[in-house]
Amino acid sequence: MPVANGSRVPRVGIVGAGQLARMTVQTAIPLAVQVRLLAASADDSAAQVCRHVAVAQPTDFPALAAFAAGCDVLTFDHELVEARHLRDLERAGRVLRPSAETMAIAQNKARQFALWRKAGLPSPEKRAVSSAEEIVAFGDEHGWPVIVKAAQGGYDGRGVWVVPDARAAAELWLQALDRGLSLLVEQRVAIEHEIAVVLARRPGGETVVYPVVKTVQRDGICHELHVPAPIDPTLAAEAERIARAVAEAMKVVGILAVEMFVSEGRVLINEIATRPHNSGHFSLGGALTSQFENHLRAVLDWPLGRIDLLAPAVVTRNVLALSAGTNLHAGITAALAIPGVMVHLYGKQPRPGRKVGHVTALGDDLDDARERATRAVEALGGIIWERGAEREEAHP
Ligand SMILES: Nc1ncnc2c1ncn2[C@@H]1O[C@H](COP(=O)(O)OP(=O)(O)OP(=O)(O)O)[C@@H](O)[C@H]1O
Ligand SMILES: [Mg+2]
Repeated sequence: MPVANGSRVPRVGIVGAGQLARMTVQTAIPLAVQVRLLAASADDSAAQVCRHVAVAQPTDFPALAAFAAGCDVLTFDHELVEARHLRDLERAGRVLRPSAETMAIAQNKARQFALWRKAGLPSPEKRAVSSAEEIVAFGDEHGWPVIVKAAQGGYDGRGVWVVPDARAAAELWLQALDRGLSLLVEQRVAIEHEIAVVLARRPGGETVVYPVVKTVQRDGICHELHVPAPIDPTLAAEAERIARAVAEAMKVVGILAVEMFVSEGRVLINEIATRPHNSGHFSLGGALTSQFENHLRAVLDWPLGRIDLLAPAVVTRNVLALSAGTNLHAGITAALAIPGVMVHLYGKQPRPGRKVGHVTALGDDLDDARERATRAVEALGGIIWERGAEREEAHP
């Protein structure tokens, strides 16, 4: 059911005001949808470009409840609202899309895995642990090194550790205790490709699925998207099947991104997000309807837009600042002079390794698009990972 009755401007509340919300605001304009933001800070990326901004932490329930009361539907640009608060909002009659139940799963990698297991979906073996000994037992059983992850709150590789042996497991355990993290241990798999499937789903189940994306990750951070992914069509079909099954199992409304590994000829789920996602950035300018617009349409229960690519190949490269002194605008004219390149800057203060924007290039093939996207990142002063530029410290 559409959440607004059609007689007035629909008000979509987004909890969080990062670049995902900023690009959602951008796509709300032609639909005359009023986006309202709950921003942690008045200078957040999306708060800079939106008229209706409330400032509060996502953990501040009274502020969240007051914010929700002024919106027809509430959606999210991160996973930081506590699940019990989301349930309380629903009990108070607020419309959450995705729902509190879906968000509770999306927030926690252990809950995600429990669902994949129940639904018969493939993912590297993993287990929630409550002692260093349990990490060691898992490593002895499944082989070393193992991957240890924070069950909740990790992003851009923060909260992911490669653990080579029992001694490292003991050290990590102590650090995690200090930080109050709950951990899971995961089998390290051999990765041929990292891929992602982004889809949009309406409350009644209508779904559109974007072409499979190959992602290039370094140090747990996504640097590039290549679309369509240059992989065997059988694997691409399997990836799409898995993503659709995840969407049904989680009763997703809005965008779902499923990060996957191609490993030894199989497709395995890594993790998912139930909101617009970095893996879908190519769609803004690279596809007929962007993930941001389709997220809005889905949460309003409006017809979804077509996802066809606008060129045979689309490549997106993230712009990660080289240093705090990186001046993105010094290079913008050079970047824009490259044909077929679109620049998206997030209005974020550069810091070494911080994701401050992305560029998308349309091309006749992936090499062609990638070459132009790379030149644009270079012009803007971003890190080109393959040239050995080291990020000093990453703070997204
Ligand atoms: N089981 C695994 N085996 C091998 N490599 C892995 C495994 N799990 C994760 N990785 C590597 O670590 C990266 C980050 O892992 P993951 O996506 O779980 O973390 P994250 O910090 O939540 O990332 P995001 O920024 O996408 O939210 C993956 O993209 C992959 O390169
Ligand atoms: Mg990830």
